[in-house]
Amino acid sequence: MERRFEGKTIVITGAAGGIGRSTAERFAQEGASVVAVDLPGSGLEDTVALVEAAGASALAVPADVSRSSDVERYVQAARARFGGIDCFFNNAGIEGWIGPTTQYPEEMFDKVIAVNLKGVFLGIKHVVPAMLERGSGAIVNTASIAGLTGTPSIFAYGASKHAVVGMTKSAALEFGPLGIRTNAICPSPIETRMMRALERGINPDEPEQVHQQMAAGNPMGRYGEPGEVAALVAFLCSSEASYLNGGIYPIDGGRMAR
Ligand SMILES: NC(=O)c1ccc[n+]([C@@H]2O[C@H](COP(=O)([O-])OP(=O)(O)OC[C@H]3O[C@@H](n4cnc5c(N)ncnc54)[C@H](O)[C@@H]3O)[C@@H](O)[C@H]2O)c1
Repeated sequence: MERRFEGKTIVITGAAGGIGRSTAERFAQEGASVVAVDLPGSGLEDTVALVEAAGASALAVPADVSRSSDVERYVQAARARFGGIDCFFNNAGIEGWIGPTTQYPEEMFDKVIAVNLKGVFLGIKHVVPAMLERGSGAIVNTASIAGLTGTPSIFAYGASKHAVVGMTKSAALEFGPLGIRTNAICPSPIETRMMRALERGINPDEPEQVHQQMAAGNPMGRYGEPGEVAALVAFLCSSEASYLNGGIYPIDGGRMAR
């Protein structure tokens, strides 16, 4: 494995989840110090153990990305422990409610927007000043293929991920001239807790059948693995991606090629 992030620090939100944890491990293997952010009680200690097992330093910061004071706290913690932030994987997200839009609970709509949209905004708002201190930085926001096409059964989720795509483009234009690149990734179904929850939401009696159908509907006949997403995030944060800014990258086995 290359060590493209020796001496660098990455902040990862949703770091206790499938994609976030795998990305933490990947960056650790490539030499980065990792600030792992997730909700209290989410299992951040397992992410820290993986990072340390790879020989890297880790700092766990339990925080809610939708709360401004929590976001300021994780940024401050990163600066205090590692002296700054080089890379930011703005990744925490929730699937919300699954079902007909006319029955979508209003409180859940607000919650999905708070985590998936406002959380990404607050992350950019507070991480960028820390990156400016170093004169450079790379941000990767996690959108979804639901940020590229309509997804009627997860209405708020689709709205929030379209917003992540929009925020990525605006941030790229505003911060690109200042040395900070911002890109977004758009995964199709990936083997994590979130997909298990969606499968159960679509068919509580036979979630495995939903899994099989969705996998079969992908040109590659399967879901993606968290490690495959982590590899893309690492590339986008690396100096090899030095001219990539404002890009929206599907990682979907070809699903969006239809
Ligand atoms: N798994 C997929 O198929 C898929 C596809 C497209 C996009 N995504 C996106 O990838 C990202 C990661 O999801 P995942 O698949 O790893 O799912 P996951 O549920 O395993 O991980 C999400 C993590 O975010 C954390 N989180 C939720 N609310 C939070 C909050 N308010 N503050 C801090 N942390 C919070 C959760 O605790 C969890 O650890 C999400 O943004 C998701 O929307 C996932």
